[in-house]
Amino acid sequence: MRKHFFSGIQPSGRLHIGNYLGAIKQWIALQDEYEPIFGIVDYHAMTVRYDPAEMRGRVLDAAASYLAAGLEPEKSILMVQSDVPEHTELAWILNCITPMGRLSRIPTFKDKVRQNPDNVNMGLFDYPVLMAADILLYKSEIVPVGEDQVPHLEFTRDVAERFNSAFGEVFAEPAEVLSPGARILGLDGVNKMSKSLDNCLYLDDSDDEISRKLSTAVTDPARKRRTDPGDPTICNIMNLHDVFSTSEEREQCADGCRNATIGCLDCKKILIGHVVETIRPIRERKTDLLARPDDILDILREGAARARPIAQATMAEVRRAVGVTR
Ligand code: TRP
Repeated sequence: MRKHFFSGIQPSGRLHIGNYLGAIKQWIALQDEYEPIFGIVDYHAMTVRYDPAEMRGRVLDAAASYLAAGLEPEKSILMVQSDVPEHTELAWILNCITPMGRLSRIPTFKDKVRQNPDNVNMGLFDYPVLMAADILLYKSEIVPVGEDQVPHLEFTRDVAERFNSAFGEVFAEPAEVLSPGARILGLDGVNKMSKSLDNCLYLDDSDDEISRKLSTAVTDPARKRRTDPGDPTICNIMNLHDVFSTSEEREQCADGCRNATIGCLDCKKILIGHVVETIRPIRERKTDLLARPDDILDILREGAARARPIAQATMAEVRRAVGVTR
């Protein structure tokens, strides 16, 4: 039997190629060795203000995006966190062994307080505990995540250890698996790709948008004119070539940049062709899926039905360990 691991997806709008290269591609590669559980974490999304009328659509959109990007419901379990109440049940028990001081030191909490100073709620403070519950409920030994999630994984190991030493060995201590492509910058060439910075290539951008965005993306600032030589090692377009282009094309572009025999636009044209070819089928599959929301809901319902027995088995052990069975 394949082992499980859990990884969470925020139902927060459109995915960009940073998400794709950073996380999704990695998950899809793990579908054969493991039976992964991908949870659309709607309870985590409630820690910031939101419009309840939009939640259903956000969940469907996230599901369609991941399915379109290659998540196969035969190999992986795609579910919604709130469909399996054991997540919040375990979170409560973990709450009772979590010192408040430990949570207040987590950098993502401090960031969120800075971003939402008028809504510092208990859920925001408790976010890492619910995330630890997501992971431990399925006895995950690995968790593929982006680098920004490492403090949460450290916390999860901490809680697992605390639980095991207080109540007996129940949980594995999970290790983060960081994806190799996680270092892709935004189109500004400076910041990480981020929705709020408007520097993203989205998985549902049209061919024209992809072409326009990449044509104006920042390259080595030393290349003001076509005749100026550049440094491909500091150019974000070259980072993208590393992921999308063939080794001959990469060499051609890097050499051409160093001795100014290729212009940035010609270098970008090669990249644009590959990115368009990668994104187009994902965009088309997503449009197709969103036209059939009932099919998506069926997949989510089945995902919850497959996740629940695994979660219940762990909770039976946890309840016994903490002394709430009769
Ligand atoms: N915190 C994660 C994020 O913002 C989402 C998440 C929730 C998650 N639970 C998880 C990721 C469990 C991995 C495992 O992206």
